[in-house]
Amino acid sequence: MREFDERSITQAVIGRLAECPDLRFKEVMTSLVTHLHDFVREVKLTEPEWMAAIQFLTDVGQACTEKRQELILLSDTLGVSVLVITINHPAEEGSVESTVLGPYYWEGAPELPRGSNLAEGVKGEPAFYSGRVLSTDGRPLPNALLDIWSGDGEGNYDMQIPGETGMKARGRIRTDAEGRYWFRSIRPTFYPVPTDGPVGRMLRKTGSHPYRPGHVHMIVSAPGHLPVTTHLFVAGSKYLDSDAVFGMKESLVVQFKRHPPGAGPDGERLDTPFYSVDYDFRLRPAAPDRA
Ligand SMILES: [Fe+2]
Repeated sequence: MREFDERSITQAVIGRLAECPDLRFKEVMTSLVTHLHDFVREVKLTEPEWMAAIQFLTDVGQACTEKRQELILLSDTLGVSVLVITINHPAEEGSVESTVLGPYYWEGAPELPRGSNLAEGVKGEPAFYSGRVLSTDGRPLPNALLDIWSGDGEGNYDMQIPGETGMKARGRIRTDAEGRYWFRSIRPTFYPVPTDGPVGRMLRKTGSHPYRPGHVHMIVSAPGHLPVTTHLFVAGSKYLDSDAVFGMKESLVVQFKRHPPGAGPDGERLDTPFYSVDYDFRLRPAAPDRA
C-alpha cells in the first residue's frame, strides 16, 4: 500500500507509464500529466471549479454533431489549433502560410470546371478569384487542386442555415497547364463563431468577442508538394486585428478590387458591383529530391 501527497502524486501517475510501448505516446502523456498537475497546484483548483470543468468538457463533447465540431471550436478559440499548425507547417522559402481548418470543412465538395460559380444562389456580392499555384522555385504547378469553402455574404455557412441540406459556396477547382486557376464566388464577410454552445458561454465569460474577419478557406494541394490549409482574408475587413481564433496572417490578406456594374472577367454582364482578387499560392516540394 502506498499513499501520495500533492507532490508525489505526479511522479506516481507518470510511473504508471513505465511499460508503455509507444514511446511518443509516453512522452506526450508524461508532459500532459506534469503540466496538468502543475496547473491544478498553481491555481489551487477547488472542487466546484473542477466539477464545472468536467461539466464544460462534457457539454463541449455533447454539442458535437455530424455538422458541428465544438471541440475544434474550443481548440481554435484557445489558440491551440493555430499553434499546432504553426509548429508543423512553417512557411519556408516563400511558401504560403497555413492557418486553421475551422469547424465548417465538409469533405467531398464537387470538382468543378475552372471559371465555375461556386456560389450559385448564395447571398453576397460577386467576387472573381484568380491566380496561380506555383512551386517555391516559381515553377507553375498544373493539376493542383484548390478545395474552397466560405460562408455567404452575410457570414453564414451552408451547414448553419436552417433547412439548407446541400453544399453551398463550396467546390474544388484544378489548375490548368500553366498552374492558373479562376472561379467565381462571393466576397465573404466577418462572422461570429457559433455562440449558442458551451464555447460561446466560455467566450462571454472571458469577455471576448466571437468574430472572425472575412475570409475564404482553401486547401491547396499538388502532386509532389506539401498541401496547405489556408485562408484568403479580405483586406479592410472588421476584426482583422482580433480574429477570435487567432488565425489571421498578414501574408494572407488580399485586396478585393471593387468594380462598377458591367462585364465581369468572364465576359458575363453583372447588374451589381463586383470584386476581383488575385493571389498566387506557393507550395513546398514534399522532399528535396522531388523538387
Ligand atoms: Fe471560416
